[in-house]
Amino acid sequence: MAQIPERTPNMEGPLEADPDLYDGSDSSLGDEVSKYTASLTSSIERYPIENGRRYHAFKDGSYVMPNDESELDRLDLTHQMLRITMGDKLFLAPINKPKRILDIGTGTGIWAIEVGDEFPDAQIIGTDLAPTQPTWVPANVKFEIDDAEDPWTFQHKFDFVHVRYLASAIVDWPKLVRQAYDATEPGEWAEFEDFDLKYYSEDGSLKEEHHVQKWISSFLKAAEDFRRDPSPGPKIEGYMKEAGFEDVQHEKYRMPVGPWPKDKHLKTVGAWNLVQLENGLEGFTLRLFTTVLGWKAEEVQVLLANVRKDIRDPKIHAQFDFHVCYGRKPK
Ligand SMILES: C[S@@+](CC[C@H](N)C(=O)[O-])C[C@H]1O[C@@H](n2cnc3c(N)ncnc32)[C@H](O)[C@@H]1O
Repeated sequence: MAQIPERTPNMEGPLEADPDLYDGSDSSLGDEVSKYTASLTSSIERYPIENGRRYHAFKDGSYVMPNDESELDRLDLTHQMLRITMGDKLFLAPINKPKRILDIGTGTGIWAIEVGDEFPDAQIIGTDLAPTQPTWVPANVKFEIDDAEDPWTFQHKFDFVHVRYLASAIVDWPKLVRQAYDATEPGEWAEFEDFDLKYYSEDGSLKEEHHVQKWISSFLKAAEDFRRDPSPGPKIEGYMKEAGFEDVQHEKYRMPVGPWPKDKHLKTVGAWNLVQLENGLEGFTLRLFTTVLGWKAEEVQVLLANVRKDIRDPKIHAQFDFHVCYGRKPK
């Protein structure tokens, strides 16, 4: 875990300028500032490695998922899966000619970049704990490092605030939704999209004794012990109404685990879900189980080998839910 630097008093004595910074010429502060930004960038990129996986450095330890190439590929895959799930849409809110859009916890930035393409006249800001977004992005898209649980300090309000897939990441959801409310322009929209990670089957084919059920039960418990709700999806409608949003709409989507459904659309979603799960299993589990539940990494790998068999078993019809909620800030 990162050390929090001790606070030094900064209000004592007169505040003097550094004479070395001004040599009488017309030079600007550019060189001096770039020295600091370079060192800040390298500290947020000093990623810790645990059990062969790479994790974020800023606010070290607060987020349980890795941020290495394998996880970033999975996030892009999950983005495609969610797009397909929502009928090839990036959002459901009825936004109209937005000028400013904010994406909180942007991950690889893929949503922000695609929204930037859809609205070339809008400015898009994506924030995340880690600088895992591409450097070369369209001119209307910008990424910033920020902890969404800290007070938001954006200089403008936004016509659309989007928050997707922060399950197991956030300690105080009602506060996050209130900050989104404050950051939204009156009369404009915010949308939250998130999972309920409880696995179930509608035909009773998923049983308590299945490894996948044992795994997800331990996962849910560990995330709760870590005080980060793994299933915010069904609660967001309530948080949005409490924060003051109006016209709140709530859609729920089934996420089958594997291509077992007969329905063609759900079969496709299930196939994508199986791939993202197989790719993500180790990342979801390693840090949470080793640090919160005290498992050994080898024990985690043995359980995951059995979970992989279960999620490929066509007789187990497991699924979980994805929730989309959007609402408007009153004028
Ligand atoms: C599961 S990913 C989802 C990424 C993206 N929203 C998407 O749907 O593709 C969660 C992201 O949230 C970021 N994150 C976790 N806790 C955060 C926090 N407190 N503030 C900002 N970002 C956070 C992680 O670094 C990660 O990139």
